[in-house]
Amino acid sequence: MNLAGWDLLELLMEQQAAGYPEHFELHRDGSRWRWINRPLGIDDTFIFEDDTTLPYGPMEYITRQSQGDFCLLEQRENNLWMDAGIVTTQADWSLDFDIGMNFMEWHAPVPLAHQMGVFDRALKYLMNIRHGQPARRFNWTMTVNPRLDTSPENYHKWGPDRASVTPENVGRKAHLRVELQSFWRLPRSNALVFPIRCYLIALDELVTIPKWARRLHRVLESLPPELVQYKGLSRWRHLAIEYLAEFDDGSPTSPGIWPD
Ligand code: HEM
Repeated sequence: MNLAGWDLLELLMEQQAAGYPEHFELHRDGSRWRWINRPLGIDDTFIFEDDTTLPYGPMEYITRQSQGDFCLLEQRENNLWMDAGIVTTQADWSLDFDIGMNFMEWHAPVPLAHQMGVFDRALKYLMNIRHGQPARRFNWTMTVNPRLDTSPENYHKWGPDRASVTPENVGRKAHLRVELQSFWRLPRSNALVFPIRCYLIALDELVTIPKWARRLHRVLESLPPELVQYKGLSRWRHLAIEYLAEFDDGSPTSPGIWPD
């Protein structure tokens, strides 16, 4: 995982410097690298793959400077193993609990998908991801209040909010939570990195895009009971459906996520 941490440091520094050259710069002179992060006032020179030249391990050093969560997966025994991570915005799962588990083990609580063969196919797909050919997917759930950290460790802070949704406040309190997840092969360690960026939108704002209002209304109405329970929507899903019904005129929606 330490080598995977250096791979990750390289990937994030390269991507940030290429995407936002006004904020970040990476200069390489053999194994001597200089990293400039202007928003955080960082200008560090270090030796690549020499831990003693950074203030933290390579993964912690770079992910402290990066938005979103990161899991590092080692590939062995025909499986992926969650062997390192830095996670602060998890949707009701615990990195502490899942660390060291394999792909099937950490997905065990998800209903329906195992029987449908979804995870067998997903694992095969992920194990064949190649360096330089990243992939992405979206995940969704719903959260009461715009809260990013809904970890089991902090359940006492967010769990009770589920009882606070009323017909009057549902548009303001209920949020669609979408995670943009991507998968990148790392070149030296052959590990995969799984970055997760989380986005929240209140129903009040979501309904300003007619297609999104119609789509979410239909998805919530037709969600299998197992998923309603898994996503933690049992107490207030009916309120969200009633709220959204007003914005669903029954007309067809186009495929894809973009507004019509
Ligand atoms: C290696 C990359 C991946 C990691 C680290 C990961 C991790 C997780 C974790 C920790 C959970 C929460 C499970 C719980 O309830 O405790 C989860 C849920 C889930 N994952 Fe993954 N996952 C990965 C890739 C995928 C892929 C490729 C798929 C594609 C089918 C997938 C599908 C799902 C689904 C459907 C859920 C349930 C989410 C919901 O319905 O709200 N995952 N994943």
